[in-house]
Amino acid sequence: MKVKYFIGGYDKNICYLLWCEESNHAAIIDPSVEINPVIEFINKENLILDKILITHTHHDHIKYLNDFIDYFNLIKVYISSKSHQKINFIPISNNQIINIGTYIVTCFETPGHYYDSISFWDEKNKRIFTGDTMFIGRTGRVLGSKSSIEDLYDSIYNILLKLPSETMIYPGHDYGYTTIDSIGNNIISSNFFNCQNFTEFKVVMKNYEKNRKKR
Ligand SMILES: [Fe+2]
Repeated sequence: MKVKYFIGGYDKNICYLLWCEESNHAAIIDPSVEINPVIEFINKENLILDKILITHTHHDHIKYLNDFIDYFNLIKVYISSKSHQKINFIPISNNQIINIGTYIVTCFETPGHYYDSISFWDEKNKRIFTGDTMFIGRTGRVLGSKSSIEDLYDSIYNILLKLPSETMIYPGHDYGYTTIDSIGNNIISSNFFNCQNFTEFKVVMKNYEKNRKKR
């Protein structure tokens, strides 16, 4: 499976295009950037885009969803079954498998930053698409009423950090010292991923918010 990313949108958002080289079937993860460069690439490579996978329904991640739906008539949209979104979508739940041509991705429910967060696991190529649950260098924030620091801790420590350390993280925003990096490097370089327990994690999160406000 091949991957290309497009950075733009609201705040260094990253939209991923995944495709199967054998069948040319393709999927988008998060329609968070303006569609023209994506369409240009799809046409150049003769790809068949028929799926959109949503990591979570924060506005910036679905900002251009309607543009994609309008342009690609038969496109199917996959969103967590937990979501309260009113749009027409195919509900996905934990461990569900989605085909992209001859490839598959597995859906992991990873709430915390937002209640309907899903991470997409490409086991064959050891890639995890984490949305705003895990960035390079830190986790997503938990400020909204539909966020939960307890859930985030569980998603990070009991799901994402349990993946093989060579797994490459494909986050929802380009916030790190590099766009994509391994879980192993993220653990080495960030204290968000070195907590021994939930109490330590809460301190790291609190300190981050405190120092952020000073800037
Ligand atoms: Fe978000």
